[in-house]
Amino acid sequence: MHSIMEQIQTKRIVLGLTGGIAAYKSAELTRLLVNQGMQVQVAMTEAACHFITPITMQALSGKPVFTNQWGEHTANHMAHINLSRTTDAIMIAPATADFIAKLAHGLADDLLSALCLARNCPLLVAPAMNRQMWESPATQRNIQQLLADGVTILGPVSGMQACGEEGMGRMQEPTELARALLTFFQPKLLSGVKVLLTAGPTYEAIDAVRGITNRSSGKMGYAITQAALELGAEVTLISGPTALSSPHGAALVNITSAAEMFEAVQKHVADANIFIGVAAVADYRVAQPTGQKIKKSTGGLTLELFPNPDILGYVAGLPKPPFCVGFAAESHNLHDYAATKRKTKKIPLLAANLAQQAIGADDNELILFDDTGEHVLPRADKLTLARALLQHIVKLYRQGNKL
Ligand code: CTP
Repeated sequence: MHSIMEQIQTKRIVLGLTGGIAAYKSAELTRLLVNQGMQVQVAMTEAACHFITPITMQALSGKPVFTNQWGEHTANHMAHINLSRTTDAIMIAPATADFIAKLAHGLADDLLSALCLARNCPLLVAPAMNRQMWESPATQRNIQQLLADGVTILGPVSGMQACGEEGMGRMQEPTELARALLTFFQPKLLSGVKVLLTAGPTYEAIDAVRGITNRSSGKMGYAITQAALELGAEVTLISGPTALSSPHGAALVNITSAAEMFEAVQKHVADANIFIGVAAVADYRVAQPTGQKIKKSTGGLTLELFPNPDILGYVAGLPKPPFCVGFAAESHNLHDYAATKRKTKKIPLLAANLAQQAIGADDNELILFDDTGEHVLPRADKLTLARALLQHIVKLYRQGNKL
């Protein structure tokens, strides 16, 4: 019995390339999809072959590339039918303005467009073009038509373009497209559900340049944000200072101190169905931070510290609390401390890990504590763990709400 993620990660994809400069990014996209376990069959238009060679795409996908209808690849010369019948989705990346126009009108004068027209599987399109071409009424009309036809449009995004102009029209980055594909296949178990998350460290100022913080990287909180988005949740991420970029689709609220995090949580919690406290919140703040840098002196320096509010405790104590999930990073005595913490904070679910293994690392191991006991999520990268944790949350949340 394979998990949903395992089933998704082994999907068969046709990756179609059309003639745009962003085609070089499709090499990386192929690598990412293949590394995830997907079977990628590349099909390229003639124009695409001017930007990147089929040899490159063959080497990365491990399969001969289809470039025209009249090739030798298939015995019955019906590649456009055969390919679409054995695939779970077609993704066109990059999709030029010209190819989008062909799709919108049902033209089928080359293998890739014929394949799209003959498909009986979902089609995802990642546009890439000059900003003027993207904004032109013709392209916008064509995009509206594709949306009406049930095609998924991914991007484009705004930024510097190969032509030297700046604006909307850049293809989404390969990592975003790979994520979008995984998201696309996942059942939307949290559709209509609002998830509020805290992530990362907090920073408590001592003076103008110094502060108290911790080594939390935010990676686990951001991975959980990604996993919740994949399940169709509306996610608000309240994040302390991190070096990470927020997953596409989450509402990001940047804060610095625990007091600011508390204020942001108070502002957003009324709407939330699920609250997940992943942040490593500083337990104390400096009583009187100074606006100016403290100068060195020969004597010692004593800091008076005040306790910070317990944000998770506050949320769990609300008259009608959302479904609350806490984290515990312990250096020792993990089982006892975690079980006690769950009871003291009065939360239905707590995810515990060993601080020395978790903080800043790319992978981790979690033990989940709930009313039925302990559940081990074995060592894996943080996104895999986040997805497994979300599956557990969904189960308990649905049981609690009798869904
Ligand atoms: N937490 C919080 N606000 C705080 C401190 C912690 O919301 N001021 C949340 C964290 O996001 C985490 C959980 O509470 O989900 C556990 O945090 P932790 O610091 O491990 O627990 P504490 O209650 O602070 O206990 P201790 O530091 O003694 O282990």
